[in-house]
Amino acid sequence: MELLTEKEKEMIRDSWESLGRNKVPHGMVMFSRLFELEPALLGLFQYNTSCGSTQDCLASPEFLDHVTKVMLVVDAAVSHLDDLLSLEDFLLNLGRKHQAVGVDTQSFAVVGESLLYMLQCALGETYTAPLRQAWLNMYSVVVSAMSRGWAQNGEHKAD
Ligand code: HEM
Repeated sequence: MELLTEKEKEMIRDSWESLGRNKVPHGMVMFSRLFELEPALLGLFQYNTSCGSTQDCLASPEFLDHVTKVMLVVDAAVSHLDDLLSLEDFLLNLGRKHQAVGVDTQSFAVVGESLLYMLQCALGETYTAPLRQAWLNMYSVVVSAMSRGWAQNGEHKAD
């Protein structure tokens, strides 16, 4: 896995300090953005069938549960910036699970875009180009491992 510079790690940790204490509201901003960019993703959540509008779905307990899970993965990555490789097996497995539930790897990039949008909303003036790049680098490491797991699962099924 690629390494981040010490400066990038410091910027990520500083910016996550307050956000990490309020994961769900920030995660909701991120996922609201995701469904604006790619509305079809909402259909991948089975419990989608029981909710009417997008807003109803976003407020359902199952959905909030997934938002929390995503934010915990981000939190784990921030906590393991010095050793992202230790998350490799977990992320490979996570990628496999997302292949199984029908998420396309291209959608991981849209999640990244939504993550940056959420950071921009939350951080305001402190969201700078170098900070954006640092987060992008960290997210790329996470998505790279998830995508490899996703591909392995696809190959396994094709056998
Ligand atoms: C591309 C958009 C995504 C969609 C549509 C999606 C959808 C799903 C679905 C349907 C499940 C299974 C049901 C559930 O546990 O709620 C799931 C599980 C999960 N997702 Fe996602 N997901 C997406 C992106 C992500 C990302 C980017 C992360 C983390 C960085 C993530 C983290 C998780 C975790 C931790 C689980 C639980 C896995 C387990 O049961 O062990 N998801 N996701």
